[in-house]
Amino acid sequence: MCILSIETSADETAAAVTDGRKVLSNAIYSQILLHKKWGGIFPSLAKRAHEERIDSIVDTALQKITKIEPGNPEDCQARILHNIDYIAVTQGPGLAVALEVGIKKAKELSEKYQKKLIAVNHLEGHIYSSFVQNSKGNPKRDFKFPTLALIVSGGHTEIVLWKNHLKYEVLGETLDDAAGEALDKAAKMLDLGYPGGPVIERLSLEVENREFFNFPRPMSKTKDLNFSFSGLKTSFFYFLRKQKTENSEFNTNNLRQLASSFQNAVFETIIRKMDLAINKTGINRIAVGGGVIANLYLRKLLRNLAERYKGEVYFPPYKYLTGDNAAMIGVVAYYKAKSGIFAKVTGLDRIPRLSLQK
Ligand code: KG4
Ligand code: ZN
Repeated sequence: MCILSIETSADETAAAVTDGRKVLSNAIYSQILLHKKWGGIFPSLAKRAHEERIDSIVDTALQKITKIEPGNPEDCQARILHNIDYIAVTQGPGLAVALEVGIKKAKELSEKYQKKLIAVNHLEGHIYSSFVQNSKGNPKRDFKFPTLALIVSGGHTEIVLWKNHLKYEVLGETLDDAAGEALDKAAKMLDLGYPGGPVIERLSLEVENREFFNFPRPMSKTKDLNFSFSGLKTSFFYFLRKQKTENSEFNTNNLRQLASSFQNAVFETIIRKMDLAINKTGINRIAVGGGVIANLYLRKLLRNLAERYKGEVYFPPYKYLTGDNAAMIGVVAYYKAKSGIFAKVTGLDRIPRLSLQK
């Protein structure tokens, strides 16, 4: 079953063609450079950039397939669209003006080529991302239910009980900032640019991910599975202000120590809550998705946690699957199509605050 999928919920314009769990082609245009100087996503710029790129990104995803198909590329493209079974698109959560661009394109194609539409929750995409396969069907890992899903991205931090295909129960979520957002804000305070996660990872590694300053582990004493990172951010802000007045000058070593200590506070909070989730549910299988799981230190901490409980942990098998992409949307859509869940062209609208439990 071939699906053309489109994703425009934040700052990546993305399209993919998938066949079941296999990715036949994948195209992503990242707007990171555009938003760098704002230290975050600037909505009107994101909207315009999506509008400028959406057609060419869909074409790129299709062209990659035409290389596999014999014949004239243009005929091939139309033929491929005719041969595609369904069109999938991210409905939310995300930035309204950004989601709209992808949905509009999906509706146009659906009408022109008479294809049924499938609306996908972006968070479902991150949950499924560890099970997306390359065109050869690797990795071969199978779904096992129930699993604990952890989403750690710039917009979300959630622990989800993944009961079966398309069946979720949110066990905990952030009450304010997401983990990636906290890393981005700390990096901004340290003048490290946007996105902050990768720079903080690099600096922390240079001091072997050790902890030099003890920042709070937010909500670690509560018995629920919710997160809150805004207090940590504030405490970091005041700590920096005090350091700056006392030391007058930052040296590079100090910067590494601060980055690594902050990263420890964020990651240890995540690990403690996942530990609690395993204890509460008795489930020792974890699937992780979202941009922050590109971080190798967080992967190591989660691997250690799973080992302690003789369990397993799954990560997105390819780097592009950690951040936003359309391939993961196409794979969720495959399971929706198998269950006969389709959207009506007229009724489909973006839902910026779409949750996993409808
Ligand atoms: O999933 P994603 O691409 O977009 C959202 O849906 O939010 O996640 C982006 C987030 C940013 O906060 C970024 O700083 C973080 O992922 N990130 C990282 C790393 N790479 C990206 N955080 C920690 N370590 C990394 N290597
Ligand atoms: Zn995302």
